Parts: sequence; C-alpha cells; structure tokens
Amino acid sequence: MENPQKAKVLVVGGGGRCHAIVDALSRSSKVGKIYCAPGNAGIARQAECVPIKDTQVKELKDFALAEGIGLTVVGPEVSLAAGIVDAFSDAGLRIFGPTKSAAVIESSKDFAKQLMAKYDVPTAAFRTFDDYGQALDYVRGGNFPVVLKYDGLAAGKGVVIAEDYGQAQEALKDMLLDDKFGKGRVVVEEFLTGPEFSFMCFVDGEKVWPMTVSQDHKRAFDGDKGPNTGGMGAYSPVPLITDEDVEYSLEHIMKPVAAGMVAEGRPFKGVLYGGLMKTPSGVKVIEFNCRFGDPETEVVLPRLESDIYDIFSAVTDGTPMPEIKWSSRVTLGFVLASNGYPGSYEKGHAISGLDDALALGDICIYHMGTAFKDGGYATAGGRVLMVVGFGDDLKSAQAHALKAVGCIRCDNLFYRRDIGWRVL
Ligand code: AMP
Ligand code: GLY
Repeated sequence: MENPQKAKVLVVGGGGRCHAIVDALSRSSKVGKIYCAPGNAGIARQAECVPIKDTQVKELKDFALAEGIGLTVVGPEVSLAAGIVDAFSDAGLRIFGPTKSAAVIESSKDFAKQLMAKYDVPTAAFRTFDDYGQALDYVRGGNFPVVLKYDGLAAGKGVVIAEDYGQAQEALKDMLLDDKFGKGRVVVEEFLTGPEFSFMCFVDGEKVWPMTVSQDHKRAFDGDKGPNTGGMGAYSPVPLITDEDVEYSLEHIMKPVAAGMVAEGRPFKGVLYGGLMKTPSGVKVIEFNCRFGDPETEVVLPRLESDIYDIFSAVTDGTPMPEIKWSSRVTLGFVLASNGYPGSYEKGHAISGLDDALALGDICIYHMGTAFKDGGYATAGGRVLMVVGFGDDLKSAQAHALKAVGCIRCDNLFYRRDIGWRVL
C-alpha cells in the first residue's frame, strides 16, 4: 500500500547514474513511490518507468502535475540544458537541479573558463577562437600536446588532445570549418598532467557540501588505451587524493565557483561536478559538469549512509542540511559495454547471470543500457551494466566485482580489467 505521508519522487533519465539515484532513494524512509522517465529494464525493478524522454520537458511537467510528484531529481545534462528546472519551478513543482542559466557551466566550456579566470580558480591556460585561421596560428606558435575543446555539448567527444600540428589542424577543421558538432567555438588549452579525480558537491547558492571523491576511467581499453568514452569504470574513495587535496579543492575551487555563479546572477542549485587534476603545481580544473557524473554516481551513492531525500530537500528548499555520512567501505565498479562502443554497436543481445552475480552479496548492479526481451534482459545501449563491488579496501572490492562480472553471460560485451590500476 502506498503511504500518503511519504513522497512521490520522479527521477528523470535512464542510465546507470539514474539507477544509482533510484537505488539511493529507495533506501529513504521519506520516499513512498519512485517513478523514472524513461528508466530502463533494471530500474524497472525499483521504480515505475514512464515512457517519456528526458528532453520532453512539457510532457514530464504534465506528468508530474497529474501524479502529484513531490520532488523531481534530474540526471542528464540534456534535460537541464533544455530548461527542465525552470519549467518545473514555474509550475510550482519541487525539482533538484540547476536552472538553464546555471547549467551553462557545463554546456559552455568558454563560459566555465571565463568564470574561472574571473574568480581566480586554478585551471589550464586557455584562449577561445571562432576563426579557424586564428586558432591555427595560435596553435602553431605553442607547445604540443595541446588540448582542443569544442565549446558546447558533444557527448564527451568534443575534446581532442593533439600531439602535433597535423592532428591539431585536423581537429580544428572538424570543429570550426566542417561544424562536426554544430556551429561553435573552440577553447585551446594548455595540456596538464597528473591523476584526475571527480569531486561532486551538493550546492545551493554559495553553500557547498562535498561528496566523497571518486575516479573515472575515460579510455575504452586497458592501460588507458583507445578512444575516450563516457567512462568505463570508477572507484571511491581515491587514495592518491589526500584530505588536504580535498580541502584545497573545496576552498579554492568549488566554493569560489559557487559564489561566482551567485555573483554572475546564475545561482547554482544541484550537483556541481568538478573534474579535477592533481598536477605537479597543485589541483586544477579540467571541466565542470552541472549534474551527477556517470559512472561516478554508481560508486559514490552506494557509500552514502544519510537519507538522500533529506539532502535533495535541503538543497531544493534552502532548509538546513543534515549531516552527510559516508561508509568507510570502498566501492569499485566495472562498466560492461557493447563491442564497438564508443563507436557503433549492436543492440538486443541477451544477458543472463545477474542474479548469480547479486547472490555473491556486497554487489550492486546498475543498468546503464538494458531492455526487456523474451522474458529476460538484453543489451540496449553502448554502456550496458555497471557492476560495483564493496570491500574493506580497493583490492578486495576489485576482486569481488570481478567475480560478479564473471557470473554475467552475454556474447557482445567487453570491459576494462584494470579499473583502479593507479592505486592497485
Ligand atoms: P573534458 O571533457 O573537458 O573532461 O575532457 C575529457 C578528457 O580530456 C579529460 O578527462 C582529460 O583526461 C583530458 N583533458 C581535458 N583537458 C585537459 C588538459 N587541459 N590537460 C590534459 N588533459 C586534458
Ligand atoms: N564520468 C564523466 C561524466 O559524467 O561526465
């Protein structure tokens, strides 16, 4: 029976990140019913999936009004960039996430770089160009490798690290002459080195509450080889990142940026994600995202011991934040992806063995891209499953997750075996 005292929550999105958010909400004592739009086959075990796409803002709003949704939580950046928070707020609906004007911190790399320059936040030196010839001249006179970033959303594919002039020329041609990602500008950036980490914070205006840190693995294959992907695995916490690094990142990066967004008339509410690098000259910003990371969320939220509904409410309503507690157990997760990803791939391959994997205990399986087929699960995306193991240390979490991966049967999946290599 539904308890009318408990909240009805809508989660917008359908990947592994949303599965982890749904899973965390399902542990809340305040939440009665969870809907997810559009969700996926795995999410359907924990929430009622609603067939509305994450960019159909009007349909989502009408659904939330009709169902009496008490809180909506947004996963993907496309929904935020489409103005879902503005539309819901105008309709008097509670929604967790930044407005369209605050989401620009992710959708425009140039905006983010200008903001960091203005508020003295450490990041790679840069210049922005809309002219191909000028960009090429600038690159010719500088050092290699050089980093070229398309100034807009490009599904993680708009960043090129050019090793030499020829590669830079090719990438600039794609971005500025051939408009491969659309009509836009290019940020040319100094190449930094060092371990990267993901620092997600809950933010309400100038107030910032840090989450525990995690590390993603962006390249497709073992040994950090192959093309960049949305992320092939992650773990949390990150032993290479000390408490001092976290404190520095909070005080010199996340708080000044949150305050800067307020000063710019774009107060941020939601999750601000700092993609940071520990360089030989200190922690610097690689990028900001305006939402939970994927796959980082799948290793961070399972470690959250506090009630996530209370956290979302505190940010959304501006009420006092409860203490945010993290488990001392660590998490490490492998992404199982379709052969061919991040390029083209087939869908519809049957998946089995998930129950055997879960029966090992201390395992979470988040569905990233699955669908129901012939009474079971089948692949339905590039990234398909994230298998997360818990352990007392990263080594045991890794061994545990690998054992679970070994239980899963599908003839069209691959994964990186070396998640956690920097510390293991
Ligand atoms: P981004 O989409 O900005 O996170 O860039 C994708 C990936 O490119 C990052 O995760 C880094 O591995 C790499 N990258 C981006 N900017 C730089 C930089 N300035 N120096 C070195 N690597 C970078
Ligand atoms: N894992 C990187 C991202 O969510 O953008």
